[in-house]
Amino acid sequence: MKTTENSAAAPSAAATATPDSKTKHRVSIDLLNEAIGKEIATTLQYLYFHAHFEDARYAYLSQILRRIAIAEMRHIEEFSDRVLFLEGDVDMNPSFHTRQIADPKEMLRFAVQLEQHTIDTYNEASRIASEHRDAVTHKLFQDTIAEEEAHLDTFRTELDNLERYGDDYLALQSDAGSKQAMRELGRSIEGFERSK
Ligand SMILES: [Fe+2]
Ligand SMILES: [Fe+2]
Repeated sequence: MKTTENSAAAPSAAATATPDSKTKHRVSIDLLNEAIGKEIATTLQYLYFHAHFEDARYAYLSQILRRIAIAEMRHIEEFSDRVLFLEGDVDMNPSFHTRQIADPKEMLRFAVQLEQHTIDTYNEASRIASEHRDAVTHKLFQDTIAEEEAHLDTFRTELDNLERYGDDYLALQSDAGSKQAMRELGRSIEGFERSK
């Protein structure tokens, strides 16, 4: 009788089995993978813009796009780490093809749209993660939103300057880019002469 009572009090084997983490965290894993696809595509888009700005020697725009692309790449890493912690697998594929936009104003307009859309999506993802009692994923999205808002602010300011000052703004950037190229050339020539 005692044995029966003990066995009744003890949880059954089925009840103690570890719940399938993938199923338990399915919602968070899907939200994170969706975000990863977006971050990959955004990184590639910004690297494309960076290459064009670099080629045109728009020194500041080129650096801004490079730095923000690196920030987006870090987001891929952070979201991926979380997916793996939740025992899911990472879907490392871009969510859209890189747009071949070569006009600086159009590039910045598209970057503003991208950031705005990302912020809206992550706000929703953060809310859903919270509903599913996943506080860390909820916070990860919240922290990322703060960074995306800083990107949005930067792109808006650059677009505003470009619309206000037009080609003069680009000429100024080009001038700074040429000076930077001159300095880099100077350094490499000095290095070459020292090595002789
Ligand atoms: Fe991002
Ligand atoms: Fe961003």
